[in-house]
Amino acid sequence: MTWLITGGAGYIGAHVARAMAAAGEPVLALDDLSAGVRARLPRDIPLVQGSSLDGDLLKRILTEHSVTGVVHLAARKQVGESVAEPTRYYQENVGGLATLLDAVAQAGVRRFVLSSSAAVYGNPDADLITEDTPCAPMSPYGETKLAGEWLVRAAGRAHGIATVCLRYFNVAGAASPELADTGVFNVVPMVFDRLTRGEAPRIFGDDYPTPDGTCVRDYIHVADLADAHLAAARHLAADGAEGDLTVNIGRGEGVSVRELVTLIGEVTGDRRPALVEPRRPGDAPRAVASAGLAAEALGWRARRGLREMVESAWQGWLLHRGG
Ligand SMILES: NC(=O)c1ccc[n+]([C@@H]2O[C@H](COP(=O)([O-])OP(=O)(O)OC[C@H]3O[C@@H](n4cnc5c(N)ncnc54)[C@H](O)[C@@H]3O)[C@@H](O)[C@H]2O)c1
Repeated sequence: MTWLITGGAGYIGAHVARAMAAAGEPVLALDDLSAGVRARLPRDIPLVQGSSLDGDLLKRILTEHSVTGVVHLAARKQVGESVAEPTRYYQENVGGLATLLDAVAQAGVRRFVLSSSAAVYGNPDADLITEDTPCAPMSPYGETKLAGEWLVRAAGRAHGIATVCLRYFNVAGAASPELADTGVFNVVPMVFDRLTRGEAPRIFGDDYPTPDGTCVRDYIHVADLADAHLAAARHLAADGAEGDLTVNIGRGEGVSVRELVTLIGEVTGDRRPALVEPRRPGDAPRAVASAGLAAEALGWRARRGLREMVESAWQGWLLHRGG
């Protein structure tokens, strides 16, 4: 088996490539380096610089490297940007995936893992979100993830490709400081950014119907998420693997924004009180995964807790942003 990891120089992709390689799976990364960083990958993981929109390149590398499975993470991921530039998001996230699936089918690759997102669910009224909870994405980004899942399943059926779609909940932390997320798009780096500037962290809305009034989310350590990809790859590599599987990747445990901000205060030693600002449009009060299917179907469950996520993310922040 050789696995192609698209987006392999990205925050999650580099964790996935390293975890799979460490477990003995031969891997090869593809990344256009638009947001990726070459140094995230060790020398023994080859990186092809190129785009998932380049069908000829894809066909060549799938064949030349005798690729037998693909883990597709390359995508644009900013919700706000997707609202401003929906056509670009559809082109890159759905068009890029269609181009890749064409190449995969032509090269006879029979295993495919897609990086999806809890954004496919939108704002569901559910205590625990199961894979059967109706999907109603609230942004073009979430739409491209849902359309991507449809496309993966349809191509899987048409071409005999066994597929797994992983719906990640809120990803945080780093396996080592140099692999940390350097963007400021998620709540943990957003709070670090405020503290580093000497400003109070912001909480958007404390009048939600949740125990402390702030939004509740399910946080998952990126190293656990990487292990989930390994489990998905092994599931697909097992004899007779066929059909499609769609699973939530979360811990099944809700944490409020206020609880998170308090923990960040403890970890960073900067306990200044948060500023409460008005709600942001589109924020769901609660989004917590039912994590049972991943355990049952993949034999995977998260092992790392919230403190480990925050501490490792903070070490990464200090390395990249100089504290
Ligand atoms: N970070 C999260 O919280 C989160 C949550 C749910 C889902 N996801 C999904 O996980 C995947 C990885 O996210 P991430 O946080 O590591 O983001 P990232 O931006 O760090 O990684 C994406 C990588 O893909 C590369 N890339 C983008 N477009 C490409 C293209 N057309 N061809 C080749 N390479 C391309 C980028 O250079 C980057 O290295 C994405 O599909 C994202 O939608 C992320």
